[in-house]
This record gives sequence, C-alpha cells and structure tokens, in this order.
Amino acid sequence: MDSIKMTTQPRYIIQTGTTPAPETIYIQVTKDGPYLVHGSPKLLQVFIEKNETGNSGRYREGKTFESQDKMYLCRCGHSKKAPFCDGSHLKAGEDLTEAKNFTPLLEGSSEIDGPTQILTDNENYCAFSRFCDNGNRVWNEVQMQGKQHEQLTEFMVHNCAAGRLLVWDKKTLQPIEIAEDAGIYPIEDPGIGCSGPLMVRGGVRVESADGQSYEIRNRQALCRCGKSSNKPFCNGAHASVKYQDGIE
Ligand code: FES
Repeated sequence: MDSIKMTTQPRYIIQTGTTPAPETIYIQVTKDGPYLVHGSPKLLQVFIEKNETGNSGRYREGKTFESQDKMYLCRCGHSKKAPFCDGSHLKAGEDLTEAKNFTPLLEGSSEIDGPTQILTDNENYCAFSRFCDNGNRVWNEVQMQGKQHEQLTEFMVHNCAAGRLLVWDKKTLQPIEIAEDAGIYPIEDPGIGCSGPLMVRGGVRVESADGQSYEIRNRQALCRCGKSSNKPFCNGAHASVKYQDGIE
C-alpha cells in the first residue's frame, strides 16, 4: 500500500516566545461591534503610575471586574458601562472596520543589536504606554554593556503594553518573555489625562470578524477608543483624542 503522506499545517501563527492561553480563552472581534471574550480571563483595570522622573514607572492595579464567559467589551469608545459594551456602538456611527493586518509582527520589525541582547521593534503597534522612553531610552539601553542595562531593557520591554518591543538573548536567539496567565487590563493613563487600550497578556488568541486569527502574542493592546487605524490593535490614537472610558 502506498504510504499516505500527511502534511500538518499549524492551526494558528504563534509568535516565538509566546505560551498560548488555553484554547477556551479567546477574543472575537464582532463586525462593527464589541469584542466577544470567551473563557472568563481576568479583567482588571490598571493605572500607569509615574516614576521619580515623572515618566511611566509601573502598572498599579485598579478595579477588578467580574469576568464571564462570553462577555462583550466595548471597542467603539462610547459605552457608558465601560469596559463593557452597552449597545452605544449602534448609534455612535464609529467606523470599526478592522485593518486586518495578519502579517506576523516581526516581519515589520527593525533590529537593534547590543552586546548581549537584541531589541526588535515594530512601531505600527505602539500603544503609547511609554515605558520604553521613561527617562532612559530602551534603544540606547540595549546597546550598553552591563547587567543593570540588560535588566532595565527587559523591564521596559516587558511593560510595553502592545508587544511592539521584544528583547532577545543573543546567545540563544530566543525572546526573553515572561509567561503569564491570560488577562485583559483596561489601561488608565492619568499622566496624559486619558484612558488607554485593553492590554491583553498571556497569549490570548484574537479572531477577526471574518473568523481569521491574528498572530498569537504574549503582549497585545486592543483599541477601545474606536480611533486606531490598525484595528483591532491600538496605535496610540487614544492619546490624541483624549479618550475617557468614564470608569469611576
Ligand atoms: S462597542 Fe458596544 S458600546 Fe462600544
């Protein structure tokens, strides 16, 4: 009998260094409507708190929201019950069309070479959390010799809400990522007087309204002001429009 050749295609694209969340936890973008979140991941508001130089220093935990299987989170910026959808998108007239950029993030990244680490950076995914430029600049830190600079580079990268930045160990050529439980974090950014995106951590799969999955990444930021030109991902537009989610 002729041998049967089986070719296996990976079901999803997973970024190197990402540990995917359990398959039951995923986010569907609905057409012209909210995010439909499956699997009850943690839902916790976080504030970007300043460091001693007045720049982004750390995330402080805020309000915990009850998470449910199949919950709808606002992505139009008009809900009065944020982070949840209250149906306001039906009247708001916000254009929620996805940019449908399914290209893996690294394909659009530039590389900065340091003595022990490599930094990769894709500016199109900037969520403007500003940990990369908080008195020190990650693009300089990665090029400097010494443990202190390595640790600072890792700190800045790991706090990058959108995952625009990755830091790689130069010996192993693997990203230095921290696996964490799946969670969704609506960001508040009092330093610039606005609310930010939904930071999504822990390898949560995001599926477009037509059923195609985006690359699964450890750190992502989803637009919730309705203004990003890279939907469903944040591109920092909330900072220009001073998006306010109205959460007390
Ligand atoms: S997406 Fe429904 S209120 Fe914003």
